[in-house]
Amino acid sequence: MTTKILKEVKAELLKGVTEKGHPFRYCILATIGLENIPRQRTIVLRELGDDLHLNFYTDLRSKKIIHIHENKKVSLLFLHPEKLLQIRVEGLAKIHRDHTTLDKHRKNLQAINKKNFTTSVAPGTIIANPNAVDYLKEADYFCVVEVNPFKIEYLKLEHPNHIRVRFAREGADWAGEYLVP
Ligand SMILES: Cc1cc2nc3c(=O)[nH]c(=O)nc-3n(C[C@H](O)[C@H](O)[C@H](O)COP(=O)(O)O)c2cc1C
Repeated sequence: MTTKILKEVKAELLKGVTEKGHPFRYCILATIGLENIPRQRTIVLRELGDDLHLNFYTDLRSKKIIHIHENKKVSLLFLHPEKLLQIRVEGLAKIHRDHTTLDKHRKNLQAINKKNFTTSVAPGTIIANPNAVDYLKEADYFCVVEVNPFKIEYLKLEHPNHIRVRFAREGADWAGEYLVP
């Protein structure tokens, strides 16, 4: 029975990547660095692998990358408000900056989005006003972050029973257990 739910998890996450307007296109990424304060932010889910690894794009100079260098354990939270479905992913993050990976993924970006990774100073730097941002022409700080899940939790609010399942990775497989919701 939990196998069917795992299939649903995969299918919904995949829709986040492929279906325009699907709520799983956006998720919340939480990281914890050395200062021990959880930091959350919205990101776009860009790719889902058969093994359930999830990719997103970011700027190599961003705080989330600093956090991942300090602690590669991260969490992703997805919410489908209409289906009352929440998926929580815990995994290990890996930063990709090799040309093969970057060239493959750069193709997915529109020109306007490519610009986001070319600010002359790092994201989060104080500026005088929103126009005071310069963009580099010859360089960018685009990188791909891959999250390899070791735990996935599914929660669906429905009647007569809410359904909560915890999946733990066991080698190439996943073991699922129902939990009290
Ligand atoms: C709708 C939306 C989508 C976003 N997608 C991304 C994304 O895919 N990658 C990213 O690095 N930041 C994205 N951001 C910006 C982040 O939420 C965050 O503000 C930024 O990355 C800085 O985070 P940090 O300082 O914790 O690294 C998005 C923000 C919004 C509102």
